[in-house]
Amino acid sequence: MNGKFITLEGIDGAGKSTHLAWLADFLRARGREVVVTREPGGTPLGEKLRALLLAEPMHPDTETLLLFAARAEHLASVIRPALARGAWVLCDRFTDATFAYQSGGRGVAEDRITLLESWVQKGLQPDLTLLFDVPLGVSRARLLETGSVPDRFEREKEDFFARVRATYLERAKRSDGRMHVIDSHRSLAEIWEQLEGIVLALGEP
Ligand code: TMP
Repeated sequence: MNGKFITLEGIDGAGKSTHLAWLADFLRARGREVVVTREPGGTPLGEKLRALLLAEPMHPDTETLLLFAARAEHLASVIRPALARGAWVLCDRFTDATFAYQSGGRGVAEDRITLLESWVQKGLQPDLTLLFDVPLGVSRARLLETGSVPDRFEREKEDFFARVRATYLERAKRSDGRMHVIDSHRSLAEIWEQLEGIVLALGEP
């Protein structure tokens, strides 16, 4: 594999979509093939599972298993083939989200997620993970600003997001440099300057 696998993470309302679009343009301008994708989703089956996950009430174990089912399909049909042909894959959320939301948020045992991770990913990890971090008040205000109907996750209470955020930050500390915490409560120009430095350090795009 000679492509790069970059994932973007953060609590809902942390602003990752804006930065993902910028990063894709930045890499394409340097002549790279860029595949922009997301989880849950990224394949026809994954998008159907996403619709269920965002709307249907379910047990946390069911939720975790469906996320990994979608991920298995995504890895097999989109992510691995793209990396094999040298593309840079930008994925809006990946397994760090499962640790943060399902384990941190919902209380699913971490070792169960670790087990599913090794089954489905077979050792594949992102080369880089950008964790967009904002205080909870800011993310809540941003979600309200969008005016769209909140999904099953966005309707969760503040303490749920506090646990999700804390789990993300804790994972970043333990990630041996894979995860970079981006203070997303700054100007776009400041954030993009930081992103440029981090991405260029990964290898010349
Ligand atoms: P999105 O709005 O960023 O596309 O993500 C959809 C929701 O899915 C978001 O609220 C977080 C949630 N999610 C999990 O709970 N676990 C996961 O593993 C992933 C990928 C997403």
